[in-house]
Amino acid sequence: MALDSTSHAAPEVAEFRFRCIACGAISSSAGQDFRCASCRDLLDIVYPTWKQASPDPARLKSLWRQRRMSLDTADLSGVWRFRELLPNAHANEIVTLREGNTPLYELPQCARSTGVPRLFAKHQGMNPTGSFKDTGMTVAATFARQAGFRWVACASTGNTSASMAAYAARGGLRSLVLVPEGKISWSKLSQALDYGAVTCQLRTDFDGCLRLLQELVLRAPVYQLNSINPFRLEGQKTLAIELLEQMDWQPPDHIIVPGGNLGNSSAIGKALLELRDLGLIARLPRLSVIQAEGANALVRTLRETAGQKLVSVSPETRATAIRIGNPASWKKAAHVIEATHGACEQVSEIEIAQAKAEIGAEGIGCEPASAVTLAGLKKLIQRGFVKRDESVVLVLTGNLLKDPDYTIEFHRGELFPSSDERSSDSRSLDSLRRPPIVLDAALDAILRTLDKAEKP
Ligand code: F0G
Repeated sequence: MALDSTSHAAPEVAEFRFRCIACGAISSSAGQDFRCASCRDLLDIVYPTWKQASPDPARLKSLWRQRRMSLDTADLSGVWRFRELLPNAHANEIVTLREGNTPLYELPQCARSTGVPRLFAKHQGMNPTGSFKDTGMTVAATFARQAGFRWVACASTGNTSASMAAYAARGGLRSLVLVPEGKISWSKLSQALDYGAVTCQLRTDFDGCLRLLQELVLRAPVYQLNSINPFRLEGQKTLAIELLEQMDWQPPDHIIVPGGNLGNSSAIGKALLELRDLGLIARLPRLSVIQAEGANALVRTLRETAGQKLVSVSPETRATAIRIGNPASWKKAAHVIEATHGACEQVSEIEIAQAKAEIGAEGIGCEPASAVTLAGLKKLIQRGFVKRDESVVLVLTGNLLKDPDYTIEFHRGELFPSSDERSSDSRSLDSLRRPPIVLDAALDAILRTLDKAEKP
């Protein structure tokens, strides 16, 4: 089944084409593997009509603002509200859970501790299924249904599967989930089950799941909803559009994002470049990508091959969402880091745990993969890449409740192997730990605990 780009044109939304990121070949349809028919590289979505009649920036900004008052289904979505910059879908056919519309928070305590006063968090964990994946899934699920597929499928470290299962259910589609056995959090697995997905726990890692999915889509009429699917990335672009609208179109100096399969950084970067080219922003923020030390394929690719050849790694990290060794969108991510003059860094497990507790102490919370952003910021400040008078936005990709085991183990001092827990690095985390206290049901015991908690 081909995915046609020309049907369903509507005046309000953009005509699009697929373009190969390597050879530049343009096509109006894509095969089920979403790879270039001639050179097999990944596809991007482009909007040729913008060249002839580029949308008017002032008109777009005011239209998007007006839509925030509207009760129309498409306008209530924080993704489809920006539909002029998305592929054309009929407004009455979209599959939506009112995704997007996520808050931009100040982080006053982290601002003080890092010495960067203008520090913000764009919290994508406040999406309907608790992660940024929903912004891409609404677009890709809409096109899956429009193309007449009955089944959608993904490989996942947990969040994609939770999101896909929800949107499939809303859109009347069946869903197939491939996840690495034992390496995703129970919360994410439980979401996929609850939303009715056929869920397979495979005895491999995420990269193994993705490899099998790529073979599956060539053999069976299932529509793949991994971020190789360029419709996903178009939806995920809206994170950047909404963020800039929230900042009154004054770009921050830096945007910092976690890197796993590297779809999200690619999408945010694509949005920034498009917004600049369309005249909606006057200058580009620098986009930086942070990985866990144990899953640092992009860091190594940029350092060891100057971004020319992927260095795959055997991934290991407790931030299971980004436990990926062979990221599919590495070329796209390398391109946007270069184009925005961003950076790529890696952070240790202890640095991730500390950053997560610090974000939690702001009353916001996030899952471990999201906390790499704050840990990475500290490194970028040390390197002199981020200056203290610059403004910084951290993209928090997942909700705190996505991985409660991690949080509980951290506070109980059980997150790392016992030898590591006794190390001086781990002991430095003690002031952040708040283990649950088991007491007799007696007022005295509670008063004594209160008293102790008051003492420094
Ligand atoms: N943060 C969270 C919470 C994630 O779930 C993911 C990816 C990332 C960051 C990294 O984003 O892959 O676009 O670079 N999770 C995918 C999944 C792989 O299957 O849920 P990326």
